[in-house]
Amino acid sequence: MWTGPPPERIVLVGFMGAGKTSVGRALAPLVGFRFLDLDERVEARTGRSVAGIFKEQGEAAFRVAEREAAQSIQSEPRLVVAAGGGAFAEAATREALSQGAVTVWLRCPLEVVLARLPADGRRPLLGSREIMRDLLARREESYGLADVAVDARAGSPAEVASRIADVLRGRGIGKGDRAAGR
Ligand code: S3P
Repeated sequence: MWTGPPPERIVLVGFMGAGKTSVGRALAPLVGFRFLDLDERVEARTGRSVAGIFKEQGEAAFRVAEREAAQSIQSEPRLVVAAGGGAFAEAATREALSQGAVTVWLRCPLEVVLARLPADGRRPLLGSREIMRDLLARREESYGLADVAVDARAGSPAEVASRIADVLRGRGIGKGDRAAGR
């Protein structure tokens, strides 16, 4: 059961291809919050694309921009946030995302995310099956620090979103508190 004050943000974490953005868009109206994609916030703040930052400045620069974007939303209430796949694996970014928020891991096996991810050049870290397997294995412990884990391997984004809303209600988050709309 959720014991703290009602969370101001619901933050979706998990690997690339888990469906954080599409599920987040579907979840926002269910809880009466606005949707925000953390990568889009990075792009708006830096004036560059995520792929461009990786290419021109490297991953370390992206992680700094990502952390600052995560810190920038700490004062913004009533948000459903889709975090990038590496955000929760960075301690300071995880800390910023977790404060005042309930964090939800969209859990999805490697084979499912591999089948979903388009090779459109928009994900600089997308690599071979072995690279992705190792990256997922390295990150799973961090994802496991989320408050809630939801199986995201099957079902439409709307179905997964409705499952999340149910799980949150079951934990006392949702109807009757701020997450249901004040
Ligand atoms: C990344 C995932 C991407 C994006 C960036 C880095 C990662 O977000 O933040 O390319 O480290 O896994 P998605 O998880 O939305 O693809």
